[in-house]
Amino acid sequence: MNLKPVASDRLPELLRLMPKAELHIHIEGSLEPELIFALAKRNGVALPYANVEALRSAYAFTNLQSFLDIYYAGASVLLTEQDFYDMARAYFLKAAADHVVHAELFFDPQTHTARGVGMETVVKGLHRACVDAQELGISAALIMCFLRHLSEEEAFETLEQALPYRDLIIGVGLDSGEVGNPPEKFARVFARCRELGLHLVAHAGEEGPPEYIWTALDLLKVERIDHGVQAAKDSALMQRLAKDRVALTVCPLSNLKLCVFPDLAQHNLRQLLDAGLAATVNSDDPAYFGGYMNDNFTQTFAATGMDAQHAYTLARNSFEAGFTSEAEKRSQIEGLDACFESFR
Ligand code: ADE
Ligand code: ZN
Repeated sequence: MNLKPVASDRLPELLRLMPKAELHIHIEGSLEPELIFALAKRNGVALPYANVEALRSAYAFTNLQSFLDIYYAGASVLLTEQDFYDMARAYFLKAAADHVVHAELFFDPQTHTARGVGMETVVKGLHRACVDAQELGISAALIMCFLRHLSEEEAFETLEQALPYRDLIIGVGLDSGEVGNPPEKFARVFARCRELGLHLVAHAGEEGPPEYIWTALDLLKVERIDHGVQAAKDSALMQRLAKDRVALTVCPLSNLKLCVFPDLAQHNLRQLLDAGLAATVNSDDPAYFGGYMNDNFTQTFAATGMDAQHAYTLARNSFEAGFTSEAEKRSQIEGLDACFESFR
């Protein structure tokens, strides 16, 4: 579409207003400290922090693993179907305020089944929140992630437990500690998921090397790469990602907080976009990284000097990369075009 110029002081407003899709949000990473404490009280779970402030002050991460240790501890307060509903509902209210119109939520069942919480409890609570999100103007779907620090056998067991809820899940992903847990460990379980007609994604190239992105594409046969920022170190990979229009679900504030980039001005999102890659902006674990969707957009644009054309491209990429029908994509892009047309 033909874009009108947008003055730089109006750009933050456009970024906030434009409709967008979020394709990389770990729903357990949307648990705000206040809700963690409220659920701990409701469920009689003891926390190793005196109060909300003490918990929040522990959010000083040096790398992915330093975050994951606190993130898995935070999820220990989730016990009932209503807990999972409340967590997702709180996320959807924030997403709606940020003009997110489509969201694909990751969840980590193994974090819960290991504590004796059933797959049914997790999936039903999250699914009910996805249904209710429609009233907020958000279409939503669930992607079940396998924890890559666990075994292939445990991933297969998790898939088996999820089969009764196959119709409530659109796809599977791969998350948790990346370095030392390459994608090939999960090639067989991803092949089985593919036979089941599930969409496939994987975290790759967050902290790990470009080789993990190659194997996620060629062995796991994923349709999108979560993060993928390390691709910039491999020009042949950059060409492959651009040629095949493989979407990257980039999470700038996550990368900042986990020290993948020293500051946002050095984030490579602009470089990825300018090289023709189908990059998108996402929040990853917004309660832990200090920002939801619009914070990610406004802070990254302010730091890197991206413009309205980049904004349009990012939002459009998010719709094109969603696991939605062609008709849904068309209607989402029409909404985006209308927003840019009417913005003055
Ligand atoms: N689980 C939650 N957030 C994650 C991230 N950024 N990388 C890998 N696993 C995660
Ligand atoms: Zn993630």
